[in-house]
Amino acid sequence: MQIADVQDDIDRVLLTKEQIEKKIAEVAAQVDRDYADKNVLLLAVLKGAVNTLVAFSSQLHINAEIDFMSLSSYGDGAVSSGKVTIRQDMSVDVRGRHVLIVEDIVDSGLTLSWLMALLRERGAASVEAFALLNKPSRNKVHVEVKYPGYEIPDEFVVGFGLDYDERYRNLDSIAALKPKVYEGDHS
Ligand code: PRP
Repeated sequence: MQIADVQDDIDRVLLTKEQIEKKIAEVAAQVDRDYADKNVLLLAVLKGAVNTLVAFSSQLHINAEIDFMSLSSYGDGAVSSGKVTIRQDMSVDVRGRHVLIVEDIVDSGLTLSWLMALLRERGAASVEAFALLNKPSRNKVHVEVKYPGYEIPDEFVVGFGLDYDERYRNLDSIAALKPKVYEGDHS
């Protein structure tokens, strides 16, 4: 029996596992310094940020708490309404906490900007963000990402947490899909 391999659907790799790990290690070293005297709460936005959270938190030397939130944003991609709703809220009270949001990607910027405002409204002592990827050409709102990762072009990318139709999240690099994978799909 032939085993289906996600690599077969990959057109080209944009960021290798090594490049991703290198960037995450750089950011972790910076965060170790910046939060040396603080009790940081890492907040990952499900599901895409899971891979980044695991890789990032294991590079940190400071003691870090971890929590999750599941959000959904509405819009058809081209015209996002900017409306974000909470599917699953975090489990701790952020009042007085130093929160560092961990995201896989900033696309329009609406999710992150909405979440940062929410956490400030809830009384967090500080709210910063680490986003592994940013697509500057797609940004609709400016969002202050203290710890930026890589800037990428406006291409359909998957891997390292990012999905197409819930697939490819387990790929260890970030890659562009072969057009045949999504051609004809106008959802
Ligand atoms: C992605 C990503 C961010 C958001 C960024 O999540 O993980 O949370 O979109 O987009 P924005 O900047 O335009 O708001 P998605 O809704 O695809 O869910 P997932 O993480 O479960 O794949």
